[in-house]
Amino acid sequence: MLRIGSNEKGYLSFLEGIKELSFIIKRVYFVYGVPENIVRGFHAHKITDQIVFCSFGKIEILLDDGINKQTYILDNPEKFLLIQKRIWHEMKWLTKDSVLTVVASEKYNEEDYIRDYQKFIHYINNNN
Ligand code: TYD
Repeated sequence: MLRIGSNEKGYLSFLEGIKELSFIIKRVYFVYGVPENIVRGFHAHKITDQIVFCSFGKIEILLDDGINKQTYILDNPEKFLLIQKRIWHEMKWLTKDSVLTVVASEKYNEEDYIRDYQKFIHYINNNN
């Protein structure tokens, strides 16, 4: 999805004609300046779907639907992962200076977050 152009002056990555995208992008954000081995995230969203890329570096993403946990390595800007609503996610910076780029289906709203794992399990079991 994220494509790369490069020449002797460096790299330029771009998003264009995003046919894999199942939502309209309402927000884009970037996470960076994160020390190596730090894990961020530890939340799920009630409504928001997101697509994440590692636009520079190497980041491990853990997805957990409350039953199964799966980890993925993003180490190339052309790899991406859909993080759907109601999926607990954690992101580990495997190399410093890695940049996580996120496109989201909703504007930021703290009410959309579930930041406690037990509340996440309770939410997915009681809100169909
Ligand atoms: P947070 O969700 O805690 O980051 P992470 O899950 O990566 O550890 O977000 C950090 C702070 O930034 C928090 O105070 C919420 C705020 N924030 C916004 O204001 N707008 C946004 O679009 C996002 C993603 C976060």
